[in-house]
Amino acid sequence: MKGVFITLEGPEGSGKTTLISRLAQAAQGDFDEVLVTREPGDGPAGPSIRKVLLEGSSLDPWTETFLFLADRAQHCREVIRPALGRGALVLCDRFADSTLAYQGYARGLNIEVLRQLNDLATGEVRPDLTLLLDLDPAVGLNRLGAKDRLDQEPIEFHRAVREGFLAESRRDPGRYRVLDASLPADEVFQAALQEMRRLFEPTRL
Ligand code: TMP
Repeated sequence: MKGVFITLEGPEGSGKTTLISRLAQAAQGDFDEVLVTREPGDGPAGPSIRKVLLEGSSLDPWTETFLFLADRAQHCREVIRPALGRGALVLCDRFADSTLAYQGYARGLNIEVLRQLNDLATGEVRPDLTLLLDLDPAVGLNRLGAKDRLDQEPIEFHRAVREGFLAESRRDPGRYRVLDASLPADEVFQAALQEMRRLFEPTRL
C-alpha cells in the first residue's frame, strides 16, 4: 500500500482530537491527500454504532467489543484501505490498540483473542506509527465536558487503560512513540510533528 497510516491513542481527555487536526494541517504540503478519521464513528455504519456504544446503557463486554470491531471492519474496508491505496496520509483518532487497552487490559477480555479479532477486522492493516498521548487519567477526565458511557467508568478502569497502552508501547517500540500529554499543547504538537516528519524522511530519499 502506498500511503502512510498514523494512529493517535491515549486515555480520555489526552488531547488527541486537537492534535490530529494540527498534524493534518502541517502535513498538507507533504501529501496530495490527508485524511483525518476516527473510531468509532467514521465508517459507513459508524454513527449508529457509535451511538449504541457511547450513549446506550450497559453492554456485555463482548457485545461492546464486537460493535467496535464491526465499526473497524467497515471503516478499514471502505475508508482506510482505499485511502492508503490512493497514497494518502491517513490520521486516525483511535484504532485497534484502543480495543486492546479498553476491552483487553481494562475490561479483562483475553488480549490474544482480541489481537486475532483485530486482525480479522482490519484485514491486517497496521499503523506505520502510533502516537500515544500518555496522561494521568484523573487529569484527562477533569478536562472533559460531557461524559459518555465509557468516560463514566471508575477511575481504576481508566488507570488500567493507561497501563494497557503503556504495556503495548513496550511490546512494540518500533511503532509506538509515547508523548507526555501533560505538557503544554504546543510542546506536544512539536514532539508529535517531529515523529511524523521522521517517518516521512525515508520516503523522500
Ligand atoms: P473518543 O471519546 O476518543 O471518541 O472514543 C470513544 C470511546 O470509545 C473512548 O472511551 C474509547 C472507547 N473505545 C473502546 O473502548 N474501544 C475501541 O476499540 C475504541 C476505538 C474506542
